[in-house]
Amino acid sequence: MGDVAVVTGATSGIGAATAVALAERGFTVYGLGRRADRLAALQNRGVAGLVVDLTDNAALEAAVTTVLAAHGHIDVLVNNAGYGEYGAIEDVSMDLARRQMEINVLAQMRLVQLVLPAMRRSGAGRIVNVTSIGGRFSMGFGGWYHASKHALEALSDALRQEVAPFGIKVVVVEPGVIKTEWSQVAGQNAAQSSGHGAYAAKASRVTNMMNRPWVNWLFSSPGVVAKTIVRAIQAPRPRTRYTVGMGAKPILLMRRLLPDRAMDRAMGILFR
Ligand SMILES: NC(=O)c1ccc[n+]([C@@H]2O[C@H](COP(=O)([O-])OP(=O)(O)OC[C@H]3O[C@@H](n4cnc5c(N)ncnc54)[C@H](OP(=O)(O)O)[C@@H]3O)[C@@H](O)[C@H]2O)c1
Repeated sequence: MGDVAVVTGATSGIGAATAVALAERGFTVYGLGRRADRLAALQNRGVAGLVVDLTDNAALEAAVTTVLAAHGHIDVLVNNAGYGEYGAIEDVSMDLARRQMEINVLAQMRLVQLVLPAMRRSGAGRIVNVTSIGGRFSMGFGGWYHASKHALEALSDALRQEVAPFGIKVVVVEPGVIKTEWSQVAGQNAAQSSGHGAYAAKASRVTNMMNRPWVNWLFSSPGVVAKTIVRAIQAPRPRTRYTVGMGAKPILLMRRLLPDRAMDRAMGILFR
């Protein structure tokens, strides 16, 4: 029997590219997301869609039950779904901050809890958590997003140690700047939360920068990240972390070398 993979955020960007890439390599793939039309379109490319809102615990449980009922095993979980709840920390409402953590962190870990019993029974499994280079530093107006990605990095490190004895490997994939719907969503969120008030001028620069077409053409394609995720899944001994895509390595090098205030200034230049 072929390997069974579950990919969150399969309706767009990195998740869609990963789900298709895995299907092309012979995996049985289940893609999760809210947009049913996008999932239906993936069916022609070998990906079975499950309409799931990650904030709905019953829907998460039902999705895993469906896959296990059909195949008896889940070999790969790609925790990819996520978005940027951008805006000044002072402005982002606590409800939106909670939603950011719910979708980018808690739902991913709930899925881990749901698939682990089956992976332990198989004595094998691979969990890929898509964090971000933003899980290793923070920029103004992205505080809640960065917090979620730092949290996912920390949980991945702990999880890797806990499940290694059961033959299950945990891999973190940290994309750089990738051409998807992500930046548009983050820009809109910045405008909604901080478009009026004390941070309005800076917030509008954040929104503009997220939508700048001249930057966009430099971005890496989601396929670049998908390729790395597939490599991490198929490598007999995967690395614990993969950094991939435009700007990823230079930005993390800057973070390692620069003192905090110099890094703040470097990040500030982006919003001029
Ligand atoms: N693009 C970048 O530059 C970049 C850089 C570093 C890290 N990342 C990370 O890469 C991952 C994939 O992002 P992307 O760039 O491919 O962005 P994207 O094109 O906006 O895709 C985001 C995916 O997350 C899903 N999602 C969001 N909220 C959801 C919810 N409540 N329930 C279920 N699914 C939900 C969306 O599906 P529905 O809307 O259909 O539900 C969509 O499939 C994210 O974790 C992101 O933080 C992206």
